[in-house]
Amino acid sequence: MNERIIYRLIYTSRLNPNIKSNIIEEFRSILLKSQKYNKLKQITGFLVFDRLNFIQIIEGHRDKVWELFRIIENDDRHHDIKLIQFVDCERRQFSEWSMGGCLRTVVTDHIFLRYGFIGAIESNEVRPDNLIALSHDLMVAKRLEARM
Ligand SMILES: Cc1cc2nc3c(=O)[nH]c(=O)nc-3n(C[C@H](O)[C@H](O)[C@H](O)COP(=O)(O)O)c2cc1C
Repeated sequence: MNERIIYRLIYTSRLNPNIKSNIIEEFRSILLKSQKYNKLKQITGFLVFDRLNFIQIIEGHRDKVWELFRIIENDDRHHDIKLIQFVDCERRQFSEWSMGGCLRTVVTDHIFLRYGFIGAIESNEVRPDNLIALSHDLMVAKRLEARM
């Protein structure tokens, strides 16, 4: 097995409705932890949250990606996890991000709409290439916002 081959995994999930804490704070805390841990495992990717649903793209070496997915799957902050894609790919799409992330808000909503995400995220509507393009645009918007 070639250890240098990169795999990409995409899944969707739903926020556990029993979560009592502030969900935006929870999202921030997931991102911060992910950024710290993923760096150690050479994992990169992007996490989108629309306040009800998550979509996550995870990239890295096969075993590391699968190992992380198993951990995430058992996290009771979400459920109804649907695997959308697990493929090998030529290169990382998010090489600069140990885990980039975006919360869908009134400010970012127009970007979601441009990529056809009209209502709540539905797993059967997620097309990997479309999602990757959306995530890139969200990253650009975030960078621009940080500069202003
Ligand atoms: C939607 C979602 C995405 C997550 N993504 C990651 C991730 O990319 N990397 C990571 O290390 N943990 C991620 N987590 C957290 C893990 O499920 C798990 O809580 C964490 O790795 C455990 O760390 P701790 O026991 O040291 O607190 C995610 C959790 C959720 C709910």
